[in-house]
Amino acid sequence: MPSHHHAIPNRRARAIRAIAENSGARGRPAAPALTDETAVLGLMDLDCVDTAFERLTSAFASDREVLHAVACKAVPLPSLLRRFAAAGAGCEVASPGELELALSAGFAPDRIVFDSPAKTWAELRRAVDLGVSINVDNFDELTRLDTILSGRNDLAASARIGIRINPQSGTGAIGALSTATETSKFGIGLADPGAREAVIEACLARPWLGQIHVHSGSQGISLDKAAVGIRAAVDLAEEINSRASTRRITRIDIGGGLSVNFDGENVTPTFADYRAVLDKHVPGLFDFDIVTEFGRALLAKAGTILTRVEYAKTTGGRRIAMTQAGVQVATRTAYAPNDWPLRILPFTPAGNPKTAEAADTEIVPTDVAGPACFSGDLLARNRMLPRLEAGDLVAVPETGAYYFSNPFSYNLLPRVPIFGYRTAPDGGTEFFLIRRVQTIAEVLAEAGEPELRPLSSDDRDSAAEPIARVG
Ligand SMILES: Cc1ncc(COP(=O)(O)O)c(C=O)c1O
Repeated sequence: MPSHHHAIPNRRARAIRAIAENSGARGRPAAPALTDETAVLGLMDLDCVDTAFERLTSAFASDREVLHAVACKAVPLPSLLRRFAAAGAGCEVASPGELELALSAGFAPDRIVFDSPAKTWAELRRAVDLGVSINVDNFDELTRLDTILSGRNDLAASARIGIRINPQSGTGAIGALSTATETSKFGIGLADPGAREAVIEACLARPWLGQIHVHSGSQGISLDKAAVGIRAAVDLAEEINSRASTRRITRIDIGGGLSVNFDGENVTPTFADYRAVLDKHVPGLFDFDIVTEFGRALLAKAGTILTRVEYAKTTGGRRIAMTQAGVQVATRTAYAPNDWPLRILPFTPAGNPKTAEAADTEIVPTDVAGPACFSGDLLARNRMLPRLEAGDLVAVPETGAYYFSNPFSYNLLPRVPIFGYRTAPDGGTEFFLIRRVQTIAEVLAEAGEPELRPLSSDDRDSAAEPIARVG
């Protein structure tokens, strides 16, 4: 087994031990600690993030330009995005907030790719003004761009505008994440009657359309299925170029979607596996410039949610570990547990892995529960774990994408703090603050208008001031 299979769990174990030691220390901890104010932590292994990006870059080496645009939605955290920008990545964004975050994290406009499927006029104008790359979702959006671009000769030379196709190649293992079904909301369905010809004519009529975009879905899409979608994009680009008798389409955006192994430490499939499948099934791809938009494959393995067992009880024969980590950090797992199972790694209060033998206890069916007021608020259900006690720690790995960076505010639970960690040259573990814990004042500010304005002008509330009165 290559040694890198152990690097991630080893670094994670060292970080957890350091946090456990801090948590027991008296006084205010200088380093991350599990306290009453921070009873859930998000942890990011920065060495793992760096390594994943290096592996991606070397797996997709090409004679042509390759832009690896990290999917902002997977990790909308400024300092991590800044790190990707410094490493030479681009950024894929899908909303005005993500666009501004990418700019403030230091991505140059020509390294940003804007992909929302429902862009407003204002969003399109802003994107055109900035010169970011835009992937158009449908023919109506193309018509809006015609209007915005008409009379403008100043379209930034860097702006590469593409059109998103749906290869209609079918569903992956997770329906809600499959974007290449027959009726998916994304892109133009190429197999629909007349659609392919309409896309070709739209491209031939618009010299500024130079890119084809395809993203067949995330997590649960096989490499072969992803290759079928990319093949459709490349075939289309080649046909457009041959009918135009010139290289109109210069770049293929292959999206993201490489699956993550959530049931063990192995990284599988790898970026190199993906490259091998593409070389075999779509060699023509590498005649074009390429954009990728990976999220989870770059980040999931780096993340760990760490919490402590506040209380433990047994109900109906089920051990239940009550923690502060639930739907606010693991929304997908709480609401769709069968699609998004997570591993649970138990640790002792001192931060050592808890095994049944070492703790002299049994393996029992366990639910790891969160603090929110609905019974589905579980990180794991009916999992065979060493009997957990109050004070034990619970680590939830593979949560570096779409988990603690994408909070859910039910019960006004605050956003959890996030720390990065890396191995220092002397072998110690360095911690960095990525996001503070959200304060209760910030939670209240988010809840609604801070001035308590009465909501009716009946006798009870003579001070009410409607913002508008009609009729
Ligand atoms: C257009 C597009 N690109 C990239 C991604 C990132 O996907 P993943 O995190 O699976 O790589 C998504 C995910 O929703 C997407 O919709």
